[in-house]
Amino acid sequence: MEVITAVKGFKDILPEETGKWRFVENTAREIFSRFGFREIRLPIMEKTDLFKRGIGESTDIVEKEMYTFLDRGNEYLTLRPEATASVIRAYLEHALYNAETVTRLFTIGPMFRRERPQKGRFRQFHQIDVELLGLDDPRADAEVILMLMQFLNEVGLSNVSLELNSLGCAACRPTFRKAITEFLNGKEDGLCDDCKRRLVSNPLRVFDCKVKECQAVIIDAPRLSEFICSDCRSHFERVTSALKELDIPYEINTGMVRGLDYYTKTAFEVTTEHLGSQNAVAGGGRYDRLVRELGGPDIPGIGFAVGFERLISLLDKVDSSSAQPDIFVAALGEAAQKIAFILSNRLRLKGLHAEQDFSARSLKSQMKRANRLNCSYTLILGDREIEENKAEFRNMATGTQQTLPLDNLDEQILKLIKER
Ligand code: HAM
Repeated sequence: MEVITAVKGFKDILPEETGKWRFVENTAREIFSRFGFREIRLPIMEKTDLFKRGIGESTDIVEKEMYTFLDRGNEYLTLRPEATASVIRAYLEHALYNAETVTRLFTIGPMFRRERPQKGRFRQFHQIDVELLGLDDPRADAEVILMLMQFLNEVGLSNVSLELNSLGCAACRPTFRKAITEFLNGKEDGLCDDCKRRLVSNPLRVFDCKVKECQAVIIDAPRLSEFICSDCRSHFERVTSALKELDIPYEINTGMVRGLDYYTKTAFEVTTEHLGSQNAVAGGGRYDRLVRELGGPDIPGIGFAVGFERLISLLDKVDSSSAQPDIFVAALGEAAQKIAFILSNRLRLKGLHAEQDFSARSLKSQMKRANRLNCSYTLILGDREIEENKAEFRNMATGTQQTLPLDNLDEQILKLIKER
């Protein structure tokens, strides 16, 4: 019969890799808590309107990448394509802003976007997402960026670039939008079909298009930086000077617009040359109107998300080998197998990593397996041993062996292993 495979773009994380995942998660939790961030766990499915309103109707994500379906209760639901909108939804639903004026949250989990799968791009991927709500101070931007760079540094990622831009605000972005629309007027033929559509719905998106021809058209286009208002300009200057004070190198990329509509003022991306065209390991920015747009009070926010798979793919040096078993119980014959079964499970309950072979294979092949698993000790229970009411306990590193009586085997082994 045909084997059923995973859904295209959905990936298994195999035991060889989970050590790296745990290491990255633990490092994130440790560093974020130093900066006062607390973990929030959220559902992976939300009402579709949350993302339409949050991310923006004319973004690629909402237009063509969401996993949306009508559930049996006749309601449109969506597998979350990102976490920010969900974090704000929970923040508002539980009125977390009443408890403290500044709220620092992070969440880790799977996101879903129906993009074309390729290296570094999946349909189910994972993010480490951070959100700081309640501060419009530019130092908050610098602090969040510092925490991101420190996290990437502590997991062992080097050679990354931090790219910064200001995306303006409701006051200055419309002027830029008008200028870019005028600039692109008459150049439609040089644009891809998506960008032709974007011209009407969201002309800023043309900057984000990966198609070479579109990039060529946009190269001489006016930049947002020429249009931003004095408030946005001074905010951006204060962010960059705080970054300098914190010794964080950055580059300004005036063509970076980000793929989500909620951003205002500071936007940033961390990129590396080693990822090919999907070169962003992390991205984020300020969103001072999002909370209000989702029906809440006027509360500013800033945050970022790290792409877990992309980060992991860059961390080859991290040792993720699984733990070495303490003991392998090799048993031959029915009586010995019975003792081995009870013994190995008792040892596990007492805190040891014990392995046993259920097959009735020869002692030699069982020992081979113990070697392959790199077990520290082996207990050998053969016919002869059982007859003589004893077992052989072998130190696999030194090859030394000692005979143990069968009574109270678990306690004896525990003592010997703890004494080593
Ligand atoms: P984003 O730039 O859409 O931002 O995603 C953040 C990161 O998630 C990307 O830099 C990338 O590493 C990873 N990522 C995105 N799509 C995929 C994919 N299809 N496969 C693999 N990795 C992917 C956001 O999602 C914002 N919510 C970030 C944010 C938080 N802004 C403010 N707060």
